[in-house]
Amino acid sequence: MRKLIFAAASVAALALIGPAAAQAPIIIKFSHVVAPNTPKGLAAEKFKELAEKYTDGKVKVEVYPNSQLYKDKEELEALQLGAVQMLAPSNSKFGPIGVKEFEVFDLPYILPDLATLRKVTDGPLGARLLKLLDSKGMTGLAYWDNGFKQMTANKKLLTPADYKGMKFRIQSSKVLEAQFRTLGAIPQVMAFSEVYQALQTGVVDGQENTPSNIYTQKMHEVQKYTTLTNHGYIGYVVVVNKKFWDGIPADTRGLLEKAMKEATAYGNGQSAKENDDALAEMKKSGKTEFVTLTPEQDAGMRKAVESVYTDVAGRVGKPLIDEFLKETRGATN
Ligand code: LMR
Repeated sequence: MRKLIFAAASVAALALIGPAAAQAPIIIKFSHVVAPNTPKGLAAEKFKELAEKYTDGKVKVEVYPNSQLYKDKEELEALQLGAVQMLAPSNSKFGPIGVKEFEVFDLPYILPDLATLRKVTDGPLGARLLKLLDSKGMTGLAYWDNGFKQMTANKKLLTPADYKGMKFRIQSSKVLEAQFRTLGAIPQVMAFSEVYQALQTGVVDGQENTPSNIYTQKMHEVQKYTTLTNHGYIGYVVVVNKKFWDGIPADTRGLLEKAMKEATAYGNGQSAKENDDALAEMKKSGKTEFVTLTPEQDAGMRKAVESVYTDVAGRVGKPLIDEFLKETRGATN
């Protein structure tokens, strides 16, 4: 796959120096792993629409959904090499390229709601986190929402003991790994595009995801129970290849920034509704049984994963976790 990425990157570079370069539109290939009818898929389409409109055709945005071009880890490598120009990986996926700090968003129960999340992403902490990406050859442009995660499995997951010995697919985040290990489960990192089949064939027993991702991947059709835990958050960092971005004429880049700002407001304004709609559709389908925790069971889950905060402090950084909590809970723990 690396070879292929290199080949694509060279073709992209050649295209830039051809004689018609002055007139040719700037092409932004935007690769992502989810379905078009998801919060990320719709925000990407909105960005395309606005970017092409504002630049009057000087920029063309090609959106490739559903891991059509690259899977999770490959897409970040492809971006760094310039084979694609834009992505929106989840916060949980930056660890393998050496940026562990975004895993702070993975801490269990760290966000009570999306309004609280904005305090971080729209504030100085959010801006500082984006800056960390510069050294990796990418520019962080925006934070896009998905929503809150639920647990799926072929059994009800009511108490921490129910997780013991079960295999769960996780994204490539050490915080998520710690979360499942703390519950006595066996976490397994796997690309998003492979999850449905892994659940269907029993390679893993369960997974955590937002209603929108569960529904659009049809995971609910191969999982008997969806336990409504809201225990964690999935959101995205929109990233662009830095060299490519810096090379765009400033006036055009300004228009793209405006398009991104508006696409972000649009996407984040409706992500909660998209997840609510997906949940309603799954309920209607009757293919998975929804399980709600009692306040006692919810408290039991929260208590069981509390130690994750200290377990991962060395990796994510205690000052960062404390700063995040100060924003989200109003006080350090
Ligand atoms: C996952 O891998 O479960 C999600 O990050 C996929 C996505 O991009 O929403």
